[in-house]
Amino acid sequence: MSATPLHRLYNHYSELPFSMRILYSGALCILGMGYLFAIIYLTHVYAGRDGKPGLSEEDLVVAYSGTGKGSRLEAALRGPMSTMLPAEEANALVSWVQKGADRPTYETFIRPTIEKRCMTCHDGSNPHLINLGGYDNIKKVTEQDTGTDIFTLVRVSHIHLFGMTFIFFLVGTIFSHAYVRPLWFKYLVMGLPLLCVAIDISSWYLVKIYHPFAYATMAAGAVQGLSFAIMWVISMYQMWIGKTPKAVLQRSENQGVVIG
Ligand code: HEC
Repeated sequence: MSATPLHRLYNHYSELPFSMRILYSGALCILGMGYLFAIIYLTHVYAGRDGKPGLSEEDLVVAYSGTGKGSRLEAALRGPMSTMLPAEEANALVSWVQKGADRPTYETFIRPTIEKRCMTCHDGSNPHLINLGGYDNIKKVTEQDTGTDIFTLVRVSHIHLFGMTFIFFLVGTIFSHAYVRPLWFKYLVMGLPLLCVAIDISSWYLVKIYHPFAYATMAAGAVQGLSFAIMWVISMYQMWIGKTPKAVLQRSENQGVVIG
């Protein structure tokens, strides 16, 4: 297993100046904190979107491509607001929404229903309830829920692509000094998260087209998190706790170098 000889340019942590180890450890600690906060933030933003507690692939589908259950108004009329009006009036409202929620029909047929059934609560006097007074206000809740819009995704994508590359480049560089055998495992832990950054971000757009891509988002996120954790723990352990690997000691002895 440990047969693969050391690369000429490879240095173990024990061969690096002490100052580098301090810098590496500090950076790992701050990045680790950042990762924890990111996880808290993600859970808070996405969990429960599908109406069920916890984080699932359905939450991501709802976030990226919408509920697929029409507009907020339809969802409310079929759900919590269904007791506020007789079923036939609700049906009339829903079919108006589905036909495009035009203004003339609103003025003649819809406005009276809304005023009679909804305005006692939704007249805008309660800041916690959406205002349904007037065509413009109601039009907003008739729009189809298609999830995060493309422009927002583009904005978040470029921040993520820069940010995640920076994180994994940094952690990967630090981890490159770890003594890990078999080597393919080391390559995998360093390379895979970068591939997963690309998969992760592409999958946000693909979920809109084909919902099962939400699994790719989750899997890519999991691989990134796992690689981060593996690199973090191994780096910290070898920097401060573990003994200098034999292969490194032998090389240093041959060269007459003192390990610090
Ligand atoms: C008795 C007061 C009351 C009446 C009458 C009422 N609502 Fe509501 N409505 C609420 C409350 C409270 C909420 C927020 C809590 C919730 O979402 O269950 C709400 C939320 C909503 C929402 C937002 C749901 C979301 O997506 O967050 C919509 C849309 C809505 N109502 C539509 C209507 C319509 C249409 C009518 C008339 C047919 C109506 N409401 C009548 C109290 C009322």
